[in-house]
Amino acid sequence: MATVWTQQGSREEGSSRRNLLGWGLMIILLLSLILVFSVLLFYTFHTCGPRPCESPVCLELVASYLTTGNASALPCTDFFSFVCGNLMSGWTKESRNILQVLKEKNQNRLRKILEASAPWPPDSEEEKTVRFYKACMDTDAIDASGAEPLIQVIEELGGWRISGNWTLPDFNHTLKLLMSQYGSFPFFKAYLRPQPSPPHLPVIQIDQPEFQMPFRPDQKNYPEILRAYLSYLQQLGTLLGGDEKVVLEHASVSISTTSKLLLAAKPLDQRKQEGKLFQETTIAQLQEMAPSIDWLSCLRAMFSPVTLSPSQPIMVHDLEYIRGMSQVIGQTPKSRNDYLQSHMILGLVSMLIPALDSHFQNAQRNLSQKLQELTGQSPITIPRWKKCIEQTGNFFEPTLGAMFVQETFSHGGRDAATQLFSEIQNALSRHLKKLRWIDEGSRREAQTKLSKMKVEMGAPEEVLKPDPAKQDYQDINFGPSFLQTFLSCSRSLRERTMRGFLGPPYSHSWKVSPWEVNAYYSMSDNVAVFPAGLLQPPFFHPGYPSAVNFGAAGSVMAHELMHIFDQYLVPGGCPACDMPGLHGELLCLQQHYESFSLPAGSTFNSSHALLENAADMGAVVIAMQAYRKWQQKHKGETILPSLGLSPYQLFYQSYGQVMCGTPNLQDAQDLHSPPILRVHGPLSNTPTFARYFNCPKGTPMNPGKHCQLW
Ligand SMILES: *[C@@H]1O[C@H](CO)[C@@H](O)[C@H](O)[C@H]1NC(C)=O
Ligand SMILES: *[C@@H]1O[C@H](CO)[C@@H](O)[C@H](O)[C@H]1NC(C)=O
Ligand SMILES: *[C@@H]1O[C@H](CO)[C@@H](O)[C@H](O)[C@H]1NC(C)=O
Ligand SMILES: *[C@@H]1O[C@H](CO)[C@@H](O)[C@H](O)[C@H]1NC(C)=O
Ligand SMILES: *[C@@H]1O[C@H](CO)[C@@H](O)[C@H](O)[C@H]1NC(C)=O
Repeated sequence: MATVWTQQGSREEGSSRRNLLGWGLMIILLLSLILVFSVLLFYTFHTCGPRPCESPVCLELVASYLTTGNASALPCTDFFSFVCGNLMSGWTKESRNILQVLKEKNQNRLRKILEASAPWPPDSEEEKTVRFYKACMDTDAIDASGAEPLIQVIEELGGWRISGNWTLPDFNHTLKLLMSQYGSFPFFKAYLRPQPSPPHLPVIQIDQPEFQMPFRPDQKNYPEILRAYLSYLQQLGTLLGGDEKVVLEHASVSISTTSKLLLAAKPLDQRKQEGKLFQETTIAQLQEMAPSIDWLSCLRAMFSPVTLSPSQPIMVHDLEYIRGMSQVIGQTPKSRNDYLQSHMILGLVSMLIPALDSHFQNAQRNLSQKLQELTGQSPITIPRWKKCIEQTGNFFEPTLGAMFVQETFSHGGRDAATQLFSEIQNALSRHLKKLRWIDEGSRREAQTKLSKMKVEMGAPEEVLKPDPAKQDYQDINFGPSFLQTFLSCSRSLRERTMRGFLGPPYSHSWKVSPWEVNAYYSMSDNVAVFPAGLLQPPFFHPGYPSAVNFGAAGSVMAHELMHIFDQYLVPGGCPACDMPGLHGELLCLQQHYESFSLPAGSTFNSSHALLENAADMGAVVIAMQAYRKWQQKHKGETILPSLGLSPYQLFYQSYGQVMCGTPNLQDAQDLHSPPILRVHGPLSNTPTFARYFNCPKGTPMNPGKHCQLW
């Protein structure tokens, strides 16, 4: 530009003196331009910086950070208290966390959707969904119907000795009806599950049932527990018009049948230890091993219209239980099949209690109160609306999911979340090239897995883009009683599930509902799933500063992606890797986590959490790298007002907030570290954290030594 200017000048004036004067002027002009520019730059940096986000969603987030965090705690000493301190102080005994707070918010959102007076077209899927919920909430109508609808169901099953007409029904026939028409599994569970490898053909699985009375003789207060169940079953029988003496006799036999079955069942842990998780067999072989059940006709009824032959391969979990169960049934003389009939029907009544009148609800409430006294568990009272939402979600999941997404995860949200995910995915892909312990072959394998990974954001595809030709719920009949509606929904669901297995080619089916707060990665399908219920404030919103979205939702996404590496990190998982290097880093990781003292009373064994700890460590690294890259490409980052946190500090604050919670002491299956470790473990290992929070070397959050697995 300067050259053009000079040439123009010399052509117009033509004299060397003027030319010199021109040069002088130009230099002065340039200097003043530079000065103005510097002043502008200075001004920009000092007053504008990242602009505070003052929108309602941001202000709400600020309020949430201020109420959960403890500003008096020192970030370099105890970052967890700094972020979560106030939230924790109110909850001393109960295990709660920020995810549970979000879960409750989502339940309230569902309630609002279902209770809104939206004018859905009659007989549309939405209208049926709402109609079911309203029928479930209409306890006056349910009470008005009384026990009559249930008595009718019992007649359809051939009656029972306890009340009404009694006709010595055929055991196998009742069992078949219960399983196929009522979804009740008194002796064993049967279901289809796709094989883990392509073409993912569904295989019949036979497993233990869900026991109504899941207590073993070594349980504290066992005799009292048995008595509580006995009195509960007596109440059910009496409510159905049974004679007191007959009810007592049949209820006692039912209790003793259940305890015998329970003794035959091995707990899952024990089966895992013995390596006896399941066994492949055929229906004919199973018939020989467990002769008390007519397996072929039972499974045919259950899985119609699939055609089954005796040579059909099936998968049996806990074969010893199935044998023992058959013996328990076989011990009953044929002339006393009325005991088995009563046992099966009592199980059905228990299962149907959510759809029955308040007398039955009270009987169940009495039982759970008694059990809480006897087992010392803290009482849980679930309000009716939550139970009705659960049932509505169970029967009408695709529609309720679509309504939830529509309301809370609009297009802008979904696009922004998908964009965020691809930034995380790209960051991991770049980082993978730098991993030191992995060999070339495994690196390529992981790279392929990463690039071919499918992500499902918000809700399953068929929920987001439903097939207009598909008419779900057409087979559902409403009424005349809620019990009949409930049973009709349950049959319709079973048919849909079967059609799903028979119809289109295999696709990943979600393990969670769209409104839930659990993200997960399915290794066998190479699919990462992020439900809309999780991608909500305070973890994600398109209007948030990017630092928040990357730090919270982004690290959740990164955490799931890191599970790609699980297979290499388990012992013997990567023989071609640099084994001494990998071992060294894993040992470093373990020692790093063991160096923290745990909250009092916690009996956590960190060696079980190795993979989750590794994923947490990697998640912080990858999400931060993705955020930096994003910062370089995009202008206009915002911050949150009143917190005094820079964008990078905000990133770590948001990461910490996802973890706020107390350790889940009841769930022995949970492989994650306690929340305080999920914050301090990765962040004290992150040099950039120490830098952005100015943590001197030697403070708890900057111990000075770093594991470099990632
Ligand atoms: C907040 O942190 C300070 C300093 O660690 C502590 O004294 C105080 O008890 C904490 N407040 C709460 C509510 O935990
Ligand atoms: C018993 O059976 C008879 C004849 O089938 C029928 O008329 C009667 O209504 C039944 N009783 C009950 C209580 O269902
Ligand atoms: C169920 O049917 C099987 C096969 O026909 C038979 O062996 C068994 O005895 C029946 N069970 C009962 C309890 O009647
Ligand atoms: C539940 O327990 C209360 C008090 O113990 C009792 O009065 C009531 O009858 C019981 N409800 C049912 C349905 O048995
Ligand atoms: C933790 O679990 C590992 C592996 O199951 C076991 O070897 C170790 O003894 C356990 N440590 C403690 C303290 O229980």
